[in-house]
Amino acid sequence: MVNIGTRISELKLRNPTILASGILGETSGSMKRVASCGAGAIVTKSIGMKPREGYPNPTAVEIECGILNSMGLPNPGIEEFKKEIDEIDEIDIPVIGSIFGKDEKEFAFLAKKMEEYGLDAIELNLSCPHARGYGLEIGSSPDIVREVVREVKKKVSIPVFPKLSANAGDIVDIGKAAEEGGADGVVAINSLRAMKIDIHLKKPILYNRVGGYSGKGIKPVAVRCVYELSRELDIPVIGVGGVETWEDAVEYILAGACAVQIGAAVYYRGLSVFAEICEGMKRWMEENGFESIEDFRGVALK
Ligand code: DHB
Repeated sequence: MVNIGTRISELKLRNPTILASGILGETSGSMKRVASCGAGAIVTKSIGMKPREGYPNPTAVEIECGILNSMGLPNPGIEEFKKEIDEIDEIDIPVIGSIFGKDEKEFAFLAKKMEEYGLDAIELNLSCPHARGYGLEIGSSPDIVREVVREVKKKVSIPVFPKLSANAGDIVDIGKAAEEGGADGVVAINSLRAMKIDIHLKKPILYNRVGGYSGKGIKPVAVRCVYELSRELDIPVIGVGGVETWEDAVEYILAGACAVQIGAAVYYRGLSVFAEICEGMKRWMEENGFESIEDFRGVALK
């Protein structure tokens, strides 16, 4: 019998498929549905200090090999978000609270609130590809990332996972800074800065012009980042970007990931994607004589 349970620091997951932030992670109802469909864990939508409406439409468009979106970090704010978390009691898988802020003080405050609400871990959205003041200004500076992680770790005892960007600089430098700050693991990668122009209107399609590209098209970039981070860091790496099939998930784990997040594929394949990936992975493990995720994690690094 193969066992596809996995560990990320002290978080124990029944399987390595995690719902990525920004997809169905805003209401208690949708989170319950995802849990009942077989996901190993859930990341909430990114939550900030105050309610934000986000940008006017168009905020998302399907493009070649993925989705381009620029929502503008819409969210109910940390106080209002408590109402949703109060209603997820019966969810029996870890729920990871995603937060964004403008500096280490905001991140630390939000993380503490998420811990008080009873969430199991924190994901730091340090790398939104386009929101001014909340994104790459933070996530592309090793010094700022180290400081944000350090301040958050001072405030909470649940695991903290910064989500890194491949948009600027060397992701390994950022990953090392996160590790020095005390991160319990890193998530790689956030969506890539991108643009789509409507040739008939002769202007960018998105209201915000620039957005984040996610889905199949970014998978090779993300797998390379996971590979390099796994080689250089001692903390767990969670892979995200274009995971749609069990083959994609196996590829990430061979590159060193201990789990994968699934986002765009929930749109393409529906909520059955979690169970389908787990089934395929189990079959492949049996055929290859692997009894656990650890048996083949990082084999491609050797
Ligand atoms: C948004 C935030 C992100 O972190 C991302 O990768 C894409 C979009 C947003 O809210 O606009």
